[in-house]
Amino acid sequence: MIPELSNPSVLMRDPQRVQEILESMVKAGSNTLQVISDFDMTLTRFAHNGKRCPTCHSILDNSKLISEDCKEKLAGLLNTYYPIEIDSSRTVEEKLPLMVEWWTKAHELLVAQKIRKDLLSVAVRESGAMLREGYQLFFDHLHKHSIPLLIFSAGIGDILEEVIHQAGVFHPNVKVFSNYMDFDESGVLKAFKGELIHVYNKREGALLNPGHFQELRTRRNVLLMGDSIGDLTMADGVQDMENILKIGFLNDKVEERKQPYLNSYDIVLIKDETLEVPNAILLYLT
Ligand code: C5P
Ligand code: MG
Repeated sequence: MIPELSNPSVLMRDPQRVQEILESMVKAGSNTLQVISDFDMTLTRFAHNGKRCPTCHSILDNSKLISEDCKEKLAGLLNTYYPIEIDSSRTVEEKLPLMVEWWTKAHELLVAQKIRKDLLSVAVRESGAMLREGYQLFFDHLHKHSIPLLIFSAGIGDILEEVIHQAGVFHPNVKVFSNYMDFDESGVLKAFKGELIHVYNKREGALLNPGHFQELRTRRNVLLMGDSIGDLTMADGVQDMENILKIGFLNDKVEERKQPYLNSYDIVLIKDETLEVPNAILLYLT
């Protein structure tokens, strides 16, 4: 039905079920659809020409705004905690306190750097951040059809907004839940605002925003996109859900993570750096 679902990067546990969900969503119409997507390594690329692309955090960590000494410490944290984040042999419960530890330590280091708000755009421009191929169609199509897009990220809201702003796709149908920086009156980073969002507490983050999901309660069909097992809970705040289609990008440690991803995502995209499949689904649904 959708030729792109036969791409070599696509794996599905139950293609028949995917077909049924899609048919039900088409019947309901695009005015019942909402998209909830993770940001880092879902809307942005994991790698380009064999080189890793940065996350929101690593855009800052590798920028001129951070001292060499601090860069070393942040890299140390990444080398310690990222392998834990993606370790399929540990449970989410085991990982949870370690993720809080990672984010807390990293944010403390960033705050100590006295980062200036007016320099964030330069850091983003000089970084290798890249949205996935096909991002223009993805964002523009959702905007054209007035389909709400919630970007739900454990990254840094200010950086993420700058990335999509510089790409020219920060349209009014886009809403962001993320970790936002708090600046003092002279524009220097003094803290992070609100409750911390890390990769494994997105459910709690969703439940803290009932107003958003109340507003979208007629959008009973959800297209969810993520790259982490934690992203599966991003739609937990959606009211009166009818169908959910979950698309997971499996970027790293593919062999050992394939089975858990297939068990929980309806469509798994293996080392696929493009938005070709989500775009084909959106075109089918609208
Ligand atoms: O947008 P998303 O929810 O994917 O953002 C979280 C990602 O940021 C995680 O997958 C994690 O690997 C990465 N991260 C990082 N540096 C940190 C904290 C998180 O690169 N200090
Ligand atoms: Mg991600």
